[in-house]
Amino acid sequence: MDFKFGVATAAYQIEGAAYEDGKGLSIWDTCSKHKGLVRDGHTGDVACDHYHRYEEDIELMKELGIDAYRLSISWPRILPSGKGAINQKGLDFYDSLIDSILEKGITPYITLFHWDLPYDLYKEGGWLNRNIADWFSDYTDIVVSKFSDRVKNWITLNEPQCFIGHGLQIGAHAPFLKLPQRDVLNGAHNALLAHGKSVQAIRAASKQDCIIGFCPVGAVISPETNKKEDIEAARREMFRCDIDTVFNAAWWSDAVFFGKYPEDGINYHGENLPKIKQGDMEIISQPVDFYGVNIYDCPRVYAGENGEAIYAAFAQGFPRTNFDWAVTPEALYWGPKFLYERYKKPIIVTENGLAGMDWVCEDEKVHDAMRIDYMSRYLKELLKAKGESIDIQGYFAWSLLDNFEWAEGYFRRFGIVYVDFETQKRTPKDSYYWYRDYIKNFKNK
Ligand code: NOJ
Repeated sequence: MDFKFGVATAAYQIEGAAYEDGKGLSIWDTCSKHKGLVRDGHTGDVACDHYHRYEEDIELMKELGIDAYRLSISWPRILPSGKGAINQKGLDFYDSLIDSILEKGITPYITLFHWDLPYDLYKEGGWLNRNIADWFSDYTDIVVSKFSDRVKNWITLNEPQCFIGHGLQIGAHAPFLKLPQRDVLNGAHNALLAHGKSVQAIRAASKQDCIIGFCPVGAVISPETNKKEDIEAARREMFRCDIDTVFNAAWWSDAVFFGKYPEDGINYHGENLPKIKQGDMEIISQPVDFYGVNIYDCPRVYAGENGEAIYAAFAQGFPRTNFDWAVTPEALYWGPKFLYERYKKPIIVTENGLAGMDWVCEDEKVHDAMRIDYMSRYLKELLKAKGESIDIQGYFAWSLLDNFEWAEGYFRRFGIVYVDFETQKRTPKDSYYWYRDYIKNFKNK
């Protein structure tokens, strides 16, 4: 398979039209209205108005010269209550959207769930209700039956660590809950079941040979130096599960790729472990075709006297993005390498990018030199890993457009295209032209 360059977005972050054409409510619609949960009361009501402007946005993608576009489908736009009655206008929207993407010669990668859980399902317990696996699989079946004549590439869940960890454990994302560990792990188990049943549904409904990915957070940890013991310490730390948060790689990925939860996590969580019914792990570990991974940064560790990982402090003044995330390009080397060595699945970087301090300058352009430097350095590391025979099949920049950055509202601009949220004017940033040339040069090599 050729290496694919793309951009990624998600429905709630760009579509807007939150109350149009029969769409139901998602938990982000309801939570963003609740005072104090999203910075300055921002909402995705209008966002980038992509729902009405998708043709212009796809034209921008075509000019960019990308091979692939990763988008998500809004579950409540298709099924306003999450299950039951289908909203035909929702299907119609994605129908035209997919056709336009294909007309421009771009391959769609569709994420089935990127956090906009139907509010009505939340009222029935959301991820805490085991039935969600069936609800998600029924929704998957509707989407795949409808679009798989044209769509081949599917991603089940985006970053379960986030919608479970941020959503149910630390209260930083919708539904902004702070639940005990027992509930969090139960939610995680149900999310994994939903993933597995969705994989089954995709394979059953697809009208062509399909390619399916699971798409967790990278949770990468890199060694501070290239010393063997530091590399070992980083690798162990990255896959360690005897910790309180669900923000790790192995709890999720061992379940999906090996069909079992990691031993250290099982011992650690003890009585908080979810109820695992017979057959659950088989459902969860349905074969998938690629490991999609979102990587932005990583902590660095070195080995202590007994080989244990010790977190290295970043130097004073270390480069940081506008989200305060450390600029650590090596995350795109060590992350794919460690993940590939452990899970032996082709890797696609489904998100990577930088939140910048962008504005339109006096000359009407957006000079985001730091984003260019960031992407250039990260891609270098990714290609270094690829050069070492790690099967890396693609890179998706996050994001095409500045968009609704969840609890941070519109304060964090990740786009390679600037969006003026007052006028909806799109201005391609310098990084857009840089990425366009990078892709062109890469292909001409
Ligand atoms: C991960 C999420 O998938 C995406 O929705 C978010 O905007 C970016 N990372 C940046 O935080």
